[in-house]
Order: sequence, then C-alpha cells, then structure tokens
Amino acid sequence: MNGKQAAGYRAVEWVKPGMTVGLGTGSTAYWAIQRIGERVKEGLEIKAIATSKASEKLARELNIPLFEAADIPHIDLTIDGADEVDPQMCLIKGGGGALLREKMVALKSDKLIVVADASKDVPVLGIFKLPIEVVPFACEWTLEHLRKQYDVPMEFRQQDGSIYVTDNGNYIVDASFGRITDPEKLAAELKAMTGVVDHGLFVGIAETVVLGNEDGTVTVR
Ligand code: 5RP
Repeated sequence: MNGKQAAGYRAVEWVKPGMTVGLGTGSTAYWAIQRIGERVKEGLEIKAIATSKASEKLARELNIPLFEAADIPHIDLTIDGADEVDPQMCLIKGGGGALLREKMVALKSDKLIVVADASKDVPVLGIFKLPIEVVPFACEWTLEHLRKQYDVPMEFRQQDGSIYVTDNGNYIVDASFGRITDPEKLAAELKAMTGVVDHGLFVGIAETVVLGNEDGTVTVR
C-alpha cells in the first residue's frame, strides 16, 4: 500500500452510518472513494455528493448513493486531496481542476479531512502553482490584471494543446508564486477580483490532515 492509498483508506474510518459524505477529487481521494465503495458493498448506508464529474463517475461505478446539491441540506464530512499542506493546515488545491466544487462542498461540510502523501507536506505554500479559476469572458483581461497585480509567472492551463475547461465551463490560470507568506491575504485579494471565480487557496477550512508515508503508515494531525 502506498502513501496515497494508506491516507485515503485511513480517512474513511471517520465515515459512520447515516452520514452525508463529500467525495473529493484526484489520485488520493480516489482511494478514499474506493474504500467507501467497499464499505457500501458491505452494507454501509450513506449519502454522497461528488466534487467533480470524474469522482461522480467513479462513485457511480462503485454504487455509492449520489445526490444532487439541491437534495443535500448538510454534509457531515468531506474527504479530499491537496497539492500542498502547510503547518497551519492551509492548502493549495486544484491541481486536478476541481477547486471550485471542492471548496463549495468543503465549506458546506462540518469537517474536511485532507488526504495526501507525505510529499505534500510543506513549510510554506507556493512551490505548487496556484490554480485560479476565471470566467472565459474577457479572460485575457483577467490574466493581464493578475499579472500586473502580482508580477509572477502565470498562464492559462492547457490540455491536449487546447485551453483546459473546468467542470463549470471556466478556465484556470496557474500562477507560480514561489512562496505564499500570507495565504489569507492573497486568498481575499484574489476572491475580490472581478473575473476570478475562485482559487485553490483553502484557508481555515481543513480540520484534519491524514498524511500517508511511503511505507504505508500514516500521520494524522
Ligand atoms: C483536484 C485537487 C486534488 O485534490 C489535488 O490536486 C491532489 O490530487 P492528488 O491526490 O492526485 O495528488 O485539488 O482539484
């Protein structure tokens, strides 16, 4: 069992019968969804909501009962991955492009458990490029505005030679900040910018982090 699998499996121990659970996105959340699928097969009764079309597809394949947001008044627990985690449990997310739905589901949840391999544990956020989701209309203006404000390398995410489009029909700007010394300030500034829908900084949202080590052990904090 590698670190991602170990973290994903361990986090599912928090899932109890009757809960409504948010299903994260990415290669670590994948293992949590797999484990939830196993427990559902064994008789666990839960409701779930997915944070991306990819996780929705996986959950359907595993017969995990999925519900639309309109039918979910409250989420007990969400298990999701991260691209970076700092000592204050601030996160960079969105490497998989699902940051907006991930943040909406996390904010609706009583508890967000982050699952990641130990390489995601960093002293300061910012080596991983920060994803910023922008509306397609006048996206060049938004990029120009972002570049003027921050003067760091940033570009539209590409996929297979075309601009990457999120599940919400938006684009992503990946920005290389290098060191984000005040994530709360940057999060607020980006959120206030017209044309920006949201960004991958999660500040004060994660409650528990489960880090999976290469030897299959986990560290919980
Ligand atoms: C997707 C995410 C993922 O949780 C994040 O990119 C981590 O993915 P992985 O577990 O594959 O490393 O935020 O938008």
